[in-house]
Amino acid sequence: MTTSATLDRERLAAVHRAERERFAAEHPRSRELFERARGSLVSGVPMTWMAKWVGGHPVYAASAHGASIEDVDGHRYVDFALGDTGAMAGHSPPATVAAVERRLRDQGGATLMLPTEDAAFVGEELGRRFGVPQWSFALTATDANRWVLRLCRAMTGRPFVLVFSHCYHGSVDETFITLDAGARPRSREGNVGPAVDPTVTTRVCEFNDLAAVERLLADEQVACVLTEPALTNIGIVLPEEGFLDGLRAACDRTGTLLVIDETHTLSAGPGGCTAAWGLRPDVVTIGKAIAGGIPIGAYGVSADVAARIEALDGADLVDVGGVGGTLAGNPLSLAAARATLSEVLTENAFAGMVALCDRFVAGVRDVLRARAVPWSIVQLGARAELAFTSDPPTSGGASAALHDTELEDVLHLFMLNRGVLITPFHNMALMSPATTEADVDRHTEVFAEAVAALMA
Ligand SMILES: Cc1ncc(COP(=O)(O)O)c(C=O)c1O
Repeated sequence: MTTSATLDRERLAAVHRAERERFAAEHPRSRELFERARGSLVSGVPMTWMAKWVGGHPVYAASAHGASIEDVDGHRYVDFALGDTGAMAGHSPPATVAAVERRLRDQGGATLMLPTEDAAFVGEELGRRFGVPQWSFALTATDANRWVLRLCRAMTGRPFVLVFSHCYHGSVDETFITLDAGARPRSREGNVGPAVDPTVTTRVCEFNDLAAVERLLADEQVACVLTEPALTNIGIVLPEEGFLDGLRAACDRTGTLLVIDETHTLSAGPGGCTAAWGLRPDVVTIGKAIAGGIPIGAYGVSADVAARIEALDGADLVDVGGVGGTLAGNPLSLAAARATLSEVLTENAFAGMVALCDRFVAGVRDVLRARAVPWSIVQLGARAELAFTSDPPTSGGASAALHDTELEDVLHLFMLNRGVLITPFHNMALMSPATTEADVDRHTEVFAEAVAALMA
């Protein structure tokens, strides 16, 4: 029997020190910019989550094209982080750039109080892909989710939403709830200034726990279940056989609306998991990638839900009722979305991205097998995520328990120092239409080096 490789913590700490020194020596210009930015930016970054990068300060980008980023110190990286899905189409895909230039310079009008033809095109295309016919637009997936939760409560007259422990749907108040060690609902650790304790607005259970879902929906007080079809923000947690069917059936029995958030799971194919797995959501929410990196969010609803929304009595949907934003549905976002959906994130492109991800996953598995490393990698179409366990977890709670900050930081820094970027909040790698086999093979090579350096 082969003995599994083990992680040597002393070796890990030594590698961490060496990699930090190398990072510091090789990124003087980034360091300078970071020092300067500390004078004017909270945490020295334009958005506080950017402080998460390993190495002590972020790398400052100079340019980004396709699946590649060049930093201000002249290093080039293969980018598997791809803006945590926002750049799934690749950086500045030419068709999207052309559409943005056309809209902004030739036609003119980034923001109007009038619709453009692109909006109808994008609504039709999203409807074709996800099977729900009526769409509305936001600027982020967060806002799409926020507005959908309001609409679901308004339509059903019910007070609660149901989410799964360790879900992430953007900065949506109702979703910052987890189960504690005793399986009791509680405000998620680190929740910043909640207006009300989320246990007042939300019910929570583990993903794949159908019995708990059925119990929590039984009194018909839950307006909607909001979930990704596979969790992607706490590693990738795939649904077990029958779970999503059971969820749909429980919603049908109790008159609960089912909202599927496809923001990340679009990686499964042109119509996300909804199309790939034949799901029947009442509402689909999405954002990030569909406009090639230009801000957009969207929600699509079934014909039945659309009719219920239109019939809402006393709900102000056109002015100050809490659903909407001035720049939402703007012509620039929609021109970018039209080009991205019709010319970049096409069916053909997904076939290539998934094939590349197959190659990526096979490369990682070969490395793990060769050294008997007890880790695994989970794939969802064009996206893959490493888990520090041989059996991928089946719930958010189980996945959270595997979190190993130091190991993640060292792996990410080791890769970054060798020209490979992995998503900082995860061990996630995403393929774009611009990613190449050589990019994937570079990752396999560097990953093998990292494993050799860390495992005894
Ligand atoms: C599944 C899911 N939904 C929604 C969001 C929110 O997206 P944004 O931050 O672009 O609003 C995220 C962000 O990571 C997400 O992972």
